[in-house]
Amino acid sequence: MRPSFHPLTPVFAAEVKDIDIRQPIDAETAASIEAAMNRFGVLVFRRANLDAEQQIAFTRWFGPLDRGFAKVRNAANRFNVPNLADISNVDYNGDVVPKGHPKRVGSLANQLWHSDSSFQSPSAKFSILTIHSMPSWGGNTEFADMRAAYDDLSDAVKAEIADLTVEHWALHSRIDILGDDDYTQEQKDAIPPVRWPLVRVHMASGRKSLFIGAHCRAIDGMSVPEARILLAELLEHATQPKYVHVHEWTMGDLIMWDNRCTLHRGRRYDLDQRRELRRSTTGYAPVKAEAAE
Ligand code: OGA
Ligand code: MN
Repeated sequence: MRPSFHPLTPVFAAEVKDIDIRQPIDAETAASIEAAMNRFGVLVFRRANLDAEQQIAFTRWFGPLDRGFAKVRNAANRFNVPNLADISNVDYNGDVVPKGHPKRVGSLANQLWHSDSSFQSPSAKFSILTIHSMPSWGGNTEFADMRAAYDDLSDAVKAEIADLTVEHWALHSRIDILGDDDYTQEQKDAIPPVRWPLVRVHMASGRKSLFIGAHCRAIDGMSVPEARILLAELLEHATQPKYVHVHEWTMGDLIMWDNRCTLHRGRRYDLDQRRELRRSTTGYAPVKAEAAE
């Protein structure tokens, strides 16, 4: 049986049915999932129930594994499986972390609209997230379609932003927005800032996409306040409900998204209640034409 794809909104995101991804998939199935990703940007597999190894095996079909922000904290994870990020408010021993713990800051930073690893080059391609425990309220994950949002900009704004370059830095959201500055110089230097065009071509679909979010800290040739206001306005435009899909988790769900053409964020929940997710992420080979755009 081949997977089937069922759109979740008029503009992007689809639910995948007729497939059990706990079983190894073949190249043809992987290709059909990749093609659906290029079209929909977000795919939801309800109750996929993957363990750590199965998640990594599934992820490997879509590109080389990427460690992203783990390079800053460099903490061991508790899964004994490399390249699986512990997206939780739980420490190495499985206890919910107290106030002030870096993982609490991380959980809060994830509640800002962002694209995973936009602070590195190449940035992340697909992120794959599974849920293993849920709080009693809140904690949805939301996605926004940056291709549809770009398409709807006025011609004047499209012309204004066409050639702008944005600086992305891994710690920007954490230090500037959350007021957390307990990072050592070594941690700050672990991931130097990178520059990306504000408008990128999503090579897999040929469509243009806004590349913005919480890691953006400056725009070349613009004053900081001008840049921040422009970025804030673009973000507000791009995250209107008509471009957003809200995922309400059920245990075992798996979601995969394309970081090059979507933004996402977690929603608030009680940080004293356990919420555990696991994320695997793929990078991609940079495409020359993309850098030039
Ligand atoms: C992530 C992320 C949001 C959430 O795993 O990259 O941003 O809802 N997660 O936990
Ligand atoms: Mn994220």
